[in-house]
Amino acid sequence: RQEKFQKIYELYDAAQKLYTHILLNTTAGEQALSYLKDDRQLDEETIRQYGLGFVPSNNVLLSYAREHNIDEKVMAEAELFIERDGELTRDRFNNRVVWPIKNDRGQVLGFSGRSLDPDNPAKYMNSPESPFFNKGKLLYNLDQAKGAIRLGEPAMIFEGFMDVISAAMAGVDGAVATMGTALTEDHVKALTKLNDKITLVYDGDAAGQKAAKRSIPLIRSVTPQVEIGVIALADNRDPDEVRRELGLPALKQALTQATQTPTEYLINAAKQDKNLQNQAQYLDFLKEVWPILSSASAVEQDYFLKKISEDYGSSMESLQSEFKDYLAAHP
Ligand code: UTP
Ligand code: MN
Ligand code: MN
Ligand code: MN
Ligand code: MN
Repeated sequence: RQEKFQKIYELYDAAQKLYTHILLNTTAGEQALSYLKDDRQLDEETIRQYGLGFVPSNNVLLSYAREHNIDEKVMAEAELFIERDGELTRDRFNNRVVWPIKNDRGQVLGFSGRSLDPDNPAKYMNSPESPFFNKGKLLYNLDQAKGAIRLGEPAMIFEGFMDVISAAMAGVDGAVATMGTALTEDHVKALTKLNDKITLVYDGDAAGQKAAKRSIPLIRSVTPQVEIGVIALADNRDPDEVRRELGLPALKQALTQATQTPTEYLINAAKQDKNLQNQAQYLDFLKEVWPILSSASAVEQDYFLKKISEDYGSSMESLQSEFKDYLAAHP
């Protein structure tokens, strides 16, 4: 059993090396390489550092495994091939750019593949869930980020692979990503084992905002003492788009100078899409503020009540009285 696991790990490593080789050194990889260099603005050193690859449509890994007499059981359990009528018939990630997904020790455990076809509805495809590949436990790039996080860099959680790579290009060493799945308790525990600072950097769109609103209480429920930061990006951009559209210095600025506390972030989000000069919308805003403030510190509560009073002209007494009523009704 131990030996079979070892063989599966070896197959993952061989697959990663083969796919990287094809991307960088063969004509079959040319189109994917120019996609990564020209469209995604990556250089060859970065491509090597993250072990990106390309899977051509000629089942190169299947041929490799057969030539090397790799046990069919090992091949099947690695989940790198598509099975039809009980037979392994092709490479699973055919015609995709692939990112190897590694555990925190740097062992490859699967891949995520991106289609180059903009009309493909499945933009990314991941390895299926298996004893090796568990999206709810794995964090992309934790192997390269954990040293810096342990030394005190905040763990920065991004949505995607390209966001992590862009952050690293901007000098952020503690960048990891969840893979399309929501943040889980296991993810949080893996990070709080290293450090007690977590910063969320989700895409600057509605989905990213929804994810932040969900992740803040989740992190607090796992580890109440963790120091949470949130970085909000404007205009629906994700971190990788900030780098490519506004430039690396703009991304660096956002990642190092724009961290908000959860309270600040959530109150700003509640202001969005409201005209606070309009009485009804201002009252709606206050209704959203109370639950946010109820999980804030006393100093933060005081700060934001004062700020709302100054900005919108309600007296401190009336705000305090309404907040107190809210707390009494929601013990
Ligand atoms: P996004 O839609 O934000 O993708 O999904 P992205 O990272 O910006 O992708 P690019 O820049 O267009 O290449 C965030 C993450 O969700 C997962 C991927 O892990 C992706 O990085 N995802 C997304 C999937 O698993 N499947 C999908 O079809 C889309
Ligand atoms: Mn997104
Ligand atoms: Mn994105
Ligand atoms: Mn996108
Ligand atoms: Mn993107």
